[in-house]
Amino acid sequence: MSGKVWINGKFIDREEAKIDIFSHSLQRGSNIFERIICYEIEGRIAVFRLDDHLDRFKNSAELIRMQLPYSRDELKEAVKETVNINKVRNPYIKMSAHFPSDELDVIPPDNLVQVAIAAVDILAMIQQQKSTRIKPTLKVKVISQRKLHPNTAPVKAKVSANYLSSMLAKYEAQDAGADEAIILDCEGNVAEASAENIFLVKNGVIATPDLDYILSGITRKSVIEIAGDMGIRVEERKVKRDELDEADELFLTATSVKIWPVIQVDDKVINDGEVGEVSQRLNNEFNKIISGKNEKYNKWLTYTR
Ligand SMILES: Cc1ncc(COP(=O)(O)O)c(C=O)c1O
Repeated sequence: MSGKVWINGKFIDREEAKIDIFSHSLQRGSNIFERIICYEIEGRIAVFRLDDHLDRFKNSAELIRMQLPYSRDELKEAVKETVNINKVRNPYIKMSAHFPSDELDVIPPDNLVQVAIAAVDILAMIQQQKSTRIKPTLKVKVISQRKLHPNTAPVKAKVSANYLSSMLAKYEAQDAGADEAIILDCEGNVAEASAENIFLVKNGVIATPDLDYILSGITRKSVIEIAGDMGIRVEERKVKRDELDEADELFLTATSVKIWPVIQVDDKVINDGEVGEVSQRLNNEFNKIISGKNEKYNKWLTYTR
């Protein structure tokens, strides 16, 4: 990987952006992160919902008692500068903060925090890594491993330690021949996928799990608002596992995949294996917004210059 990385106010070559292998964040998983997508609109680069990502980043820091050495405005400028300096196609911003000091105890030895920001070409990465994200539709498996419980892990934080559970969830799904995992919460209701939120459509009404057990996805929040504007009812509530089998449509949402249709849950084919009408309408509206063609939502686009 080449390019320039912003680290605590300075740009350095990606190859030089190294971390001590015995640092607290690597050894104990105390790294927080965000992934932010950009869209090219009439020759300019727009960052999608940058303020919301920065709010979530700040919130992740608070939840793990990390003191970020930069304000939201300073980070906003740093993100814009990083996109502008790297000039990659299809920019995708990787942003993280970690405790770089050598560790002995579970608590970091000092307050030193390193913030890193990079802009990479997401399409190139998807192709290089043969990521499942290349698939237009998905087969999912409801797996046996349960979602982390909010009483034992900060599920609202995008912190690396939580993603070991996601990794094992996706392995379990892929071992069973599926593309992605659907994870149930400790009460047996639907929670989310390994790194995506989930929605179902039944009789024209959309339902999605409430926020008790899951990460508050920015795409999730966007879809709820867009659907409401389109006159589609959205319920944020407990979603029972059996509702997945009976759904007319299912889709996942995440920054890198937007609205990602699911055509099979375990052995049950959804909507004859076709992308459903509501999913398609939402997708069309989403695409309009990210092309800057819906004035109401231009507030979600931060141009880098
Ligand atoms: C656990 C988890 N759930 C849901 C999401 C989707 O969130 P977003 O739409 O903000 O990308 C992500 C992605 O960051 C995630 O890691």
